[in-house]
Amino acid sequence: MCGIIGIVGLAPISARLVESLRRLEYRGYDSAGIAGVVDGRIERRRAEGKLRNLEALLVDNPMNATVGIGHTRWATHGAPSVRNAHPQLAGKVAVVHNGIIENFAPLKAALIAEGRHFESDTDTEVVAHLIDRELGLGLEPVAAFKAALDQLTGAYALAVLVQGEDALVMGARRGSPLVVGEGQGEMFIGTDALGLGPFTNRIIHLDDGDYVAIDHAGARVFDRDGIRVERPLRIVPAASALVEKGNYRHFMEKEIHDQPDACRHTLSAYVDPITSTVSSPGVDFAAVDRLQIVACGTASYAGMIGRYLFESLAGLPTEVEIASEFRYREPALRPGALALAISQSGETADTLAALRWCKARGITTAALVNSSESTMAREVDVVFPTHAGPEIGVASTKAFTSQVAALIALAIAAARQRGRIDAGEEARLATLLLEAPRLIAEAIVDETLIGSIAQEIAKARDVLYLGRGAMYPLALEGALKLKEISYIHAEGYAAGELKHGPIALVDEATPIIVIAPSDALFDKTSSNMSEVIARGGRVVLITDAVGAGHAPEGVNVVLAPACDPLIAPLVFAVPIQLIAYQVAVLKGADVDQPRNLAKSVTVE
Ligand code: M6R
Repeated sequence: MCGIIGIVGLAPISARLVESLRRLEYRGYDSAGIAGVVDGRIERRRAEGKLRNLEALLVDNPMNATVGIGHTRWATHGAPSVRNAHPQLAGKVAVVHNGIIENFAPLKAALIAEGRHFESDTDTEVVAHLIDRELGLGLEPVAAFKAALDQLTGAYALAVLVQGEDALVMGARRGSPLVVGEGQGEMFIGTDALGLGPFTNRIIHLDDGDYVAIDHAGARVFDRDGIRVERPLRIVPAASALVEKGNYRHFMEKEIHDQPDACRHTLSAYVDPITSTVSSPGVDFAAVDRLQIVACGTASYAGMIGRYLFESLAGLPTEVEIASEFRYREPALRPGALALAISQSGETADTLAALRWCKARGITTAALVNSSESTMAREVDVVFPTHAGPEIGVASTKAFTSQVAALIALAIAAARQRGRIDAGEEARLATLLLEAPRLIAEAIVDETLIGSIAQEIAKARDVLYLGRGAMYPLALEGALKLKEISYIHAEGYAAGELKHGPIALVDEATPIIVIAPSDALFDKTSSNMSEVIARGGRVVLITDAVGAGHAPEGVNVVLAPACDPLIAPLVFAVPIQLIAYQVAVLKGADVDQPRNLAKSVTVE
């Protein structure tokens, strides 16, 4: 978590540091800060809370530096406060950090024993002290930096400023992302290309363990052994224009509306509309004997939907596991399996660790990722892209539906490769899948119908979501969406599980949101709704027109477009997103930056 930026500029850089931090604020927003070298001395400005607080501070107290670093924080060690905000300073050194220094406690104890004074509760402050100590021993800045790095364990991306060095920023990455950007006589380092988007699209990705020194002459990159290395420069697509809200109130609202395009672009990587064929570039599923999906949060629910299709369509045994559990339980996987990570960011620490665990055991790895420049994309054997564009709202929407769209396509391709369907059936399924963007757009058009239901849900303390089949993961996703942005407690259950315990929660104060298209399972779910209504429960049913006609008396219906079961998870995702969004707006919640969360979870 946390976003970092460093600039060696030809003109004052405060405004540009802030501009970059705004693009990185999705990574954390507990505090923000910048530091720069002014007349040979380090100055810093820090503020608790959102970036706007730092901006206000800079209006009153500007900083006139041409070299500097900046940070937007998601707190790990030390409460959100100015004292714990980055940059952290020790002697001649200022540091911003994304990650966790695992051995900070013994390092801190040793530094205190040497007489050093600490002013924060962060793990980061030890890094500043270590570099400062090495400088004091007479090392020049880059050598002092390397000597400090050699003492650290844990995960980090760092940007470092040294007093007296008015044209030098140093950076390092191990386990957390960091890129270098090349400008016209100016150089940049930052968490990702998006953060550097306003300044340059000429990007160098550092390898894990690399460290770098940037100055007006360019970048000197070193590997973890201190050997000078060249890393390739890439021109990344100009993503900066895509991160504006436009006329929408929130990024989440915009991203919900982006979904038809996101789905269309994603499908173009897998489905040929002329031949109605579906491909899985880089993988022949006929040669795969087991699929192991690993992911976190919303991405894991996309994986659960994928499992239904890989098993039912392609007959491919498929497991889905939350990456944070998978990585520590010695799964019995053998070569012949394909490990598939699903991740919007491609940086989620647990998912990345699960992938590396598989790779180390000789298992082929693939990643379904939205960020083509991410660590996962660069480390796996095969990349399956989603083309959702940058997703800024912390609550995942278009990344989720793009993941589901890609998984449906891959399952069709797998079914064909494994001889489970013929070319005619492949063409029929491909045609159905290509209808998804239009039907997603139709589902968004009905947005206003949700208003009165959202008002009821906004009053609830607890909400239950129910679904069967592929609608069960959607129930889990609906509950996650609601709780993360509106802070209402919500749980998702398989509708058939209701009688095994959760039905005890049913009362008139607890809305039950049932996701049930008019498919083969509708009647079973309808019985569950009747059981709830008989116990005084209030049911909101998300269904299509046929389902509405067969719904038990007394349910409140949210209409979704009728669609084939193949694409129902895509179409029915929209109303659950809209409900969560509208409830959060009604509650006045911070929709795009909900409390305690960050978009990209790069710590365990
Ligand atoms: O970047 P990733 O897809 O790996 O992120 C995984 C989860 O952290 C993410 O889906 C999270 O659950 C979202 N905030 C949910 O809206």
